[in-house]
Amino acid sequence: MRRYVRALVLCTVLVLLSVLYVLSELHANRANTTPLLRFSSSSHTNKNNDNRPQTKPPHTADRSRGDGRNAAPKADSAGRREEAIHLAVVACGTRQDEAVSLLKSAVILSNRAMRFHLFAEDQLHSSIKAVLDSWPASVRQKFSYTVYPVSFPSQDQSEWSKLFKPCASQRLFLPMILKEVDSLLYVDTDVLFLRPVELLWDLFMQFNSSQLAAMAPEHEEPRIAWYNRFARHPYYGQTGINSGVMLMNLTRMRRAHFKNDMTTVGLRWEELLVPLLNKYKLNITWGDQDLINIIFHHNPEKLLVFPCHWNYRPDHCIYGSNCIHAEQEGVFVLHGNRGVFHTEKQPAFKAVYDSVREYSFGEDLVTSFWLPLEDKLNETTHTYCGKISHLFTRALNQSAGFTLRTTLLND
Ligand SMILES: *[C@@H]1O[C@H](CO)[C@@H](O)[C@H](O)[C@H]1NC(C)=O
Ligand SMILES: *[C@@H]1O[C@H](CO)[C@@H](O)[C@H](O)[C@H]1NC(C)=O
Ligand SMILES: *[C@@H]1O[C@H](CO)[C@@H](O)[C@H](O)[C@H]1NC(C)=O
Ligand SMILES: *[C@@H]1O[C@H](CO)[C@@H](O)[C@H](O)[C@H]1NC(C)=O
Ligand SMILES: *[C@@H]1O[C@H](CO)[C@@H](O)[C@H](O)[C@H]1NC(C)=O
Repeated sequence: MRRYVRALVLCTVLVLLSVLYVLSELHANRANTTPLLRFSSSSHTNKNNDNRPQTKPPHTADRSRGDGRNAAPKADSAGRREEAIHLAVVACGTRQDEAVSLLKSAVILSNRAMRFHLFAEDQLHSSIKAVLDSWPASVRQKFSYTVYPVSFPSQDQSEWSKLFKPCASQRLFLPMILKEVDSLLYVDTDVLFLRPVELLWDLFMQFNSSQLAAMAPEHEEPRIAWYNRFARHPYYGQTGINSGVMLMNLTRMRRAHFKNDMTTVGLRWEELLVPLLNKYKLNITWGDQDLINIIFHHNPEKLLVFPCHWNYRPDHCIYGSNCIHAEQEGVFVLHGNRGVFHTEKQPAFKAVYDSVREYSFGEDLVTSFWLPLEDKLNETTHTYCGKISHLFTRALNQSAGFTLRTTLLND
């Protein structure tokens, strides 16, 4: 009898688990497909929404229709279903090659399904699509993408576009434009991944209940940092934060109320931006990054600060190495700000960029990427950043595809 009861309990539990599994599968499916469907018909669904600002309607809808949208793989090798990583990039002016190299570095290293949200000036759309669609099928199958026009939410659009330079500040509007997206990783175009994107994405799991964004400090060393010496506005923490690599939980950003120094009540993200810019426009130097600093100055509990090796810039090495996490674990995300991917000022940064750009999918990662990169880096050891460039390759060395290196070299 006892055994019978035990068997019955076991069966019930199994049935319950199966039901839960099916439900979660359904949910994951919905999450994967709705953004595409909704977005491409946004001009029709507008009326379902309340009066929140809308994406530029027919324009956006037309643009996003017919973009390359291969279904991203929905299950990993173990058959588990995983949420796709959403990556947002804004490419304007001459930034297209950078953006493509950035995506290439993400695709080379990542094993998770990815969804790219690419914002670009209209004249760049067809060439960006042409490049991504030319990648081999095995690579294409890792990601899906949509190219959007650079835009402001349509409500108050004229006001917003008067106040902001469209491209530079596009990231501020992502919570309102990508309404169907729960969370995303925003990166500047002058960024390259040296470790798989999923390691950064997984920091979302470290968010506590009040955190809705994550960034690295603007500086490690207060004596040479910018904000604490020059800023004429509030900023986050001791040295400010850098918005070039930013995890954003858009769901939470859309819901939260933000404390501020303009009203006594909290304002929603979308209500905050215009008054904030009006108040501080004469005092800000680095555009929307300064606004982000002001916002998190007043709402520090909403920010997770991640270590500098997730947003490694020339500032971390030009006066000597000051990013301890990079020294311990290697550089995970390289951020070539101030144009260093394209000039001879910091040849170690340029070496990594050139190696990614010159690598073609299908070529052997070790002989066509790693060794040429080491060669180039070996010629930069007369510079401060070149002296620590083994921290760039150390991270790469831990990633799949590169681990063969030692065996191969010993052959
Ligand atoms: C802008 O900077 C000036 C000069 O430092 C300062 O007096 C003023 O209070 C600042 N404005 C705001 C809104 O903080
Ligand atoms: C973002 O926040 C929402 C609401 O708290 C939560 O349901 C969701 O899982 C979060 N997303 C990620 C990637 O952590
Ligand atoms: C989340 O972490 C931040 C930073 O440590 C902290 O300021 C905040 O109070 C925490 N929030 C909760 C709800 O614990
Ligand atoms: C670069 O220099 C390091 C250290 O001197 C050396 O071990 C490595 O073999 C060199 N790499 C190449 C490709 O020459
Ligand atoms: C790369 O990793 C291998 C295996 O862990 C190690 O033996 C080798 O020294 C590493 N090379 C570099 C340049 O970090």
